[in-house]
Amino acid sequence: MDWGMRNRMSQLIQPDGHCFFLPIDHGYFQGPTHRLEKPGETVRPLLPYCDALFVTRGVLRSCIDPANSKPIILRVSGGTSIVGKDLAHEGITTSVRDAVRLNVAAVGLSIFVGSDYEHDSLLNLANLVNECEEYGIPVMAVTAVGKELEKREARYLALCCRIAAELGARVVKTYWCKEFDKVVNGCPVPVVMAGGPKCETELEVLEFVYDGMQKGAVGINLGRNVWQNDHPVAMARALRAIIHENASVKEAHELFNSVKNGEL
Ligand code: 5RP
Repeated sequence: MDWGMRNRMSQLIQPDGHCFFLPIDHGYFQGPTHRLEKPGETVRPLLPYCDALFVTRGVLRSCIDPANSKPIILRVSGGTSIVGKDLAHEGITTSVRDAVRLNVAAVGLSIFVGSDYEHDSLLNLANLVNECEEYGIPVMAVTAVGKELEKREARYLALCCRIAAELGARVVKTYWCKEFDKVVNGCPVPVVMAGGPKCETELEVLEFVYDGMQKGAVGINLGRNVWQNDHPVAMARALRAIIHENASVKEAHELFNSVKNGEL
């Protein structure tokens, strides 16, 4: 691996081998998502606790301070909306030249395995990898399910992750699921977990993140379950404790409560 690629990968995955990415890219197909209406304000108190931001160029340029940020994973796919015909019909929206101009640590795009646009999204990935490898920029593939949340089970996600890695993704983002080890074990590149829609309790989130880490995930790319929580900083700190400080679910939950109650 060349120096540039290694340098960028090490901005993402920390010396302990783990990572906490904070996605704030949801507006690219959902519009002003609840509690992400003003992304700059949402993210400011959370920056100290995450390792990288997953964001589009529009929000990056307009809402994120270039002098006080974190490594950037640039969302470069899109072109669909929640009210349109098919969320899977994405294309590449952002040039690699613009990604270089923005000095990003990585780029990310969605793939939609099993959808009508499977072929297009997989070729988007392969072509993006071809171009990004020229510049030493890692590609993170997002195994998207659109509105079909029930697709989030081990056999399907293992298939998606493996295909993404085979096509050259350096990191794969997928959903946690039962038997998550089957997903990780079949994927030769690091796997990070997304959260999906907000869970009912904090404990639920801490439990699945802990389980995923035990089963081989390198970290999380968790958005709504952080910044839609009533206590986002407490949530970010509790998650960070699991990811980087080896905390148990109980310890992380106690930390959540202490921060929430203003004791820390
Ligand atoms: C949205 C994304 C998000 O980055 C991903 O889904 C993670 O966010 P969340 O934890 O809220 O699901 O790709 O398109």
